[in-house]
Amino acid sequence: MTGITFEKTGQDGKARTGVIHTTRGDIRTPAFMPVGTAATVKAMMPDSVAATGADVLLGNTYHLMLRPTAERIDRLGGLHKFMNWDKPILTDSGGFQVMSLASLRKLTERGVTFKSHIDGSKHEITPERSMEIQRLLGSDIVMCFDECPALPADRKRIAESMELSMRWAARSKEAFGERPGHALFGIQQGGLEEDLRQQSAEALREIGFDGYAVGGLAVGEGQEAMFGCLDYAPDQLPEDKPRYLMGVGKPDDIVGAVARGIDMMDCVLPSRSGRTGQVFTRLGVLNIKNARHMDDPRPLDEHCGCPACRNYSRAYLHHVFRSQEIISSMLLTWHNLHYYQDIMAGMRDAITAGTFAAWQSEFHATRAQGDV
Ligand code: GUN
Ligand code: ZN
Repeated sequence: MTGITFEKTGQDGKARTGVIHTTRGDIRTPAFMPVGTAATVKAMMPDSVAATGADVLLGNTYHLMLRPTAERIDRLGGLHKFMNWDKPILTDSGGFQVMSLASLRKLTERGVTFKSHIDGSKHEITPERSMEIQRLLGSDIVMCFDECPALPADRKRIAESMELSMRWAARSKEAFGERPGHALFGIQQGGLEEDLRQQSAEALREIGFDGYAVGGLAVGEGQEAMFGCLDYAPDQLPEDKPRYLMGVGKPDDIVGAVARGIDMMDCVLPSRSGRTGQVFTRLGVLNIKNARHMDDPRPLDEHCGCPACRNYSRAYLHHVFRSQEIISSMLLTWHNLHYYQDIMAGMRDAITAGTFAAWQSEFHATRAQGDV
């Protein structure tokens, strides 16, 4: 038995729609995964996250191993029970976060050692330890332990890093073993080099995974270069398994990725922006701290059904943001996550109906005209 099954129910151009069946419920694809780094989607109750339309959350090995530790979460019954989220959880494997957050990082064939960004304590993650941590957390979808350089980087560095990640992918698979009901995803690397991406895809196929991620993007290359890579990278991965683009992105990044054959994405942007006052709407982006919202009785987005838009004016949201009231983060995060899930639902419906190109034109046209 495999960890999960992917049922593709529709395709329009390269865009796909379907369902990932897991033992903790179905994930409708294309899926956007809110980020719950520290066993919480910041400022949101789990029921509210589910109410926005999210079927799956992302958790982080790196943060949880440092605090409160994977062993403690395991003793307390696993991550789902600990954070009161009973739907699927996908966990990232730690290497990518070590590279962006930890200090005194040392990368070897064996793995990576680093000092915690929280208290300076010393730690090591290897592929084997990452699999153990993600097992202790009780993750439904486990990611391989990998590594990637920030772009731009020279080809030699990108190739070496990809090859190391492929050796780590084989060790991850070996350490993961057979775990009915749990899935392991491989992560393609290779920067913006088509042949390296192809080599990486072949290495991952050879090992065999339940799903395949496109890693190493949204690391400084810009949207045009990222789309250039996504014009071929998803096609290199198995057609009958979910394809997950890691760490992306803005609404138009997400739409462009789905148009190129991506099924799953995650990003801190909607939740983090909710706390800094940046709001995503159908007409574009606005910042609620701007004084022009002070007397505005309109909702953030006339067409949004979220509690912030149904019950509150921009004037109120401006006031609570300026007053640093906690409800500001709650309402803006709820709106942003709700809007992202509306985009995903709109794309799923359009792909099913065979009208994805028209949906995409409408999405871009609405944003272009916007007086936010
Ligand atoms: N998050 C965003 N990009 C990546 C990546 O390339 N690898 C992992 N593990 N996580 C990511
Ligand atoms: Zn709203």
